[in-house]
Amino acid sequence: MTRRRYWLGTGLALGAGISAGVMLWQREQRKLRSVSVPAQRARSLLERAAPLIRLPTSPGCEPQVLNNGSGLRCQETGTIYPYRRGVLDLIVGETDNTFTQDALDTPLTAWGYDAARGMITGLLRVQPFAEEFSDIQEIQQYRAGDVAFDLACGQGNFTVEIAKRVGDDGLVIGLDLSPAMLARAAYHVERWGLKNVFLIRGDALNLPFHDGVFKKLNCSGGFHQFPDLPQAIRELGRVSSSGAILTAGTFAEGTSDRYAAIKRRLKERFALHFVPLIPLGSELEAVGFNDYDWSMPGPWFGYASARKDSVHR
Ligand SMILES: C[S@@+](CC[C@H](N)C(=O)[O-])C[C@H]1O[C@@H](n2cnc3c(N)ncnc32)[C@H](O)[C@@H]1O
Repeated sequence: MTRRRYWLGTGLALGAGISAGVMLWQREQRKLRSVSVPAQRARSLLERAAPLIRLPTSPGCEPQVLNNGSGLRCQETGTIYPYRRGVLDLIVGETDNTFTQDALDTPLTAWGYDAARGMITGLLRVQPFAEEFSDIQEIQQYRAGDVAFDLACGQGNFTVEIAKRVGDDGLVIGLDLSPAMLARAAYHVERWGLKNVFLIRGDALNLPFHDGVFKKLNCSGGFHQFPDLPQAIRELGRVSSSGAILTAGTFAEGTSDRYAAIKRRLKERFALHFVPLIPLGSELEAVGFNDYDWSMPGPWFGYASARKDSVHR
């Protein structure tokens, strides 16, 4: 009898826990689905962003903004790139994702990353988010009216902070490959009532922008995930204007790194790169970035910044 009561109690508690979890999860998903950008604002954002955009599948084609704010249209091919729930999708067809990318790109893992980023970075002895952003702000000096680019914007944590500083006359373009992460970014943008953020689903290896359009570029947590970092760096160099500032945070490898063997294994198994910070300076220099500076406050994560010279070498 006691045993039966025990199992009954355990079953009921488990059932209640699962139901509560399912309800919370459904509420979370409803929150994301409820994101909607009014047509007029969508159109105005598309009009501001369109002059910067080079359509990845038709680079020579000038994009036309659809009147109802539902996307861009390539005037030559007729291809429509939809703008839905605050995200312009410029990816046509399938993407060839790494294991880590696939793992992150589900509603559950994107939610987990968003909710637990602070805890994860704490465990890895990465700077707290507020400190990370304050260091970036010191270098970038985001101010009202700036047009800023946040590559691998993910759930939009840095995008939102930048947007708060560039004001309504400014514009922040956040780009990421993952629909699940971008859905979270769009939700946070709406939650903060920001009207100056334009989110794009696109690929760091083939950035959908014309040459030299950005003066302030940030990429937090992206370098270690790009399958071809040298190509992403070439693209960052291409879309930067002379004098542009680049800031980046990434899983990193320092000089005489005592975790080098573990890091190598993580790279082989999960395509999670640990970017050697000294060679990174040379790669950036090759695409015209100088004044390279880097730091690695903990054993796993590092920060880099550089400025693009007026003379491209
Ligand atoms: C660890 S998250 C960083 C998110 C956020 N910036 C942060 O610091 O918390 C890395 C992001 O890089 C994005 N990413 C990976 N490969 C990409 C690619 N080829 N192009 C664009 N984004 C990519 C992933 O989708 C993911 O959202």
